[in-house]
Amino acid sequence: MKAVMMKRSGDPSDVLAMADIPEPAAPADGDVIVRVRKRLVHPADTAAIRGFLPAAVFAPDGIPGFDGVGIVQALGANVEFATGVMVGSRVALLSARKTWAECVVTSATQLMPVPDDIEDEVACQLATNGITALMLLHAAGQVAGSAGTAPLLMTAAASGVARNMIALSSQRGRHVIGLVRRDADASALAGQFDNLTVIGTDRPDWQAAVRAAANSPVKVAIDPIGGEMMPMLLESVADGGTLIVYGGLDPRPSRISSGRLTGRELTIRGLSAFGWSERTPPEQRAADFESLFAMARRMPQNFGGHRTFPLADAVKAIAHAEASPRRGATILASDD
Ligand SMILES: NC(=O)c1ccc[n+]([C@@H]2O[C@H](COP(=O)([O-])OP(=O)(O)OC[C@H]3O[C@@H](n4cnc5c(N)ncnc54)[C@H](OP(=O)(O)O)[C@@H]3O)[C@@H](O)[C@H]2O)c1
Repeated sequence: MKAVMMKRSGDPSDVLAMADIPEPAAPADGDVIVRVRKRLVHPADTAAIRGFLPAAVFAPDGIPGFDGVGIVQALGANVEFATGVMVGSRVALLSARKTWAECVVTSATQLMPVPDDIEDEVACQLATNGITALMLLHAAGQVAGSAGTAPLLMTAAASGVARNMIALSSQRGRHVIGLVRRDADASALAGQFDNLTVIGTDRPDWQAAVRAAANSPVKVAIDPIGGEMMPMLLESVADGGTLIVYGGLDPRPSRISSGRLTGRELTIRGLSAFGWSERTPPEQRAADFESLFAMARRMPQNFGGHRTFPLADAVKAIAHAEASPRRGATILASDD
């Protein structure tokens, strides 16, 4: 079978190449083999390829890819009984590994069965990114004073994860204040959702604009950027508030004042969707999947504008995914 392989970390055009590798052996107990049709290109893929994430992420054979959508090809023992998944089921993969290959072996707990009316391209955008959005919103709801309709502050508001969060929040009547890095991009995003205010952080007064947009203190901010954004966001949340971090789009270290954290009783919390399947009971997983599918049916426009590249064009796909501003999801497709 074909796979994109990484020889070492570095610039994608220098280190990625197509390879022919053996098909996986029969799956072990609890595992399945999935023939992957589509996978989303994530910032974490490109960060790992460039070496910004630990190289061990891709060990031992250097195949990128953390999620995808495909067809179950073979089942290990005890899988059908446990999950309802059968040979031929269409599934999305959560926190899987090496999905930039035509087939992967993964645990059956890491599968999200996909209903017939949800297209592969939408399912790709709902898997890791949708589950991450639900986790982040759940964590935000646990912050004292942030439940109900209190405003939520989110950075990288045009990103895939943020768009899932905004769509879910908008349905729940929650006011979101979304930050993008250029104010010129704000109105296009703001026009797509109810209850959304978008502010560009290139405005010198963006922090004052956040305060003006919020009709009550901002108790929680959600950020995948890090770097210089983190200390600025901490200044934008109210005393006793929480900054939830879930990514490192800006790999520079953050300068945080422990004195400010202490005096203002602020909390910083990190969250990862890796391991979500293992720590979430099956009934909750099914309910979470259903809420994502319901959101996608109500807001199909949130998942349009994607562009699909063949697996062999992974380098071009990465260039598209890294272009700014973000125009839509980037998807890598296996040959039919
Ligand atoms: N913790 C988890 O489990 C988890 C799960 C999924 C994703 N993530 C992380 O979440 C982040 C977003 O992923 P995604 O798939 O949602 O992203 P995406 O759809 O690829 O979009 C990236 C967005 O981030 C913005 N951006 C990129 N670099 C930036 C910077 N230095 N400063 C400000 N904005 C920047 C881009 O803005 P422009 O439009 O202006 O270019 C773009 O809108 C990544 O760090 C990813 O690794 C974490």
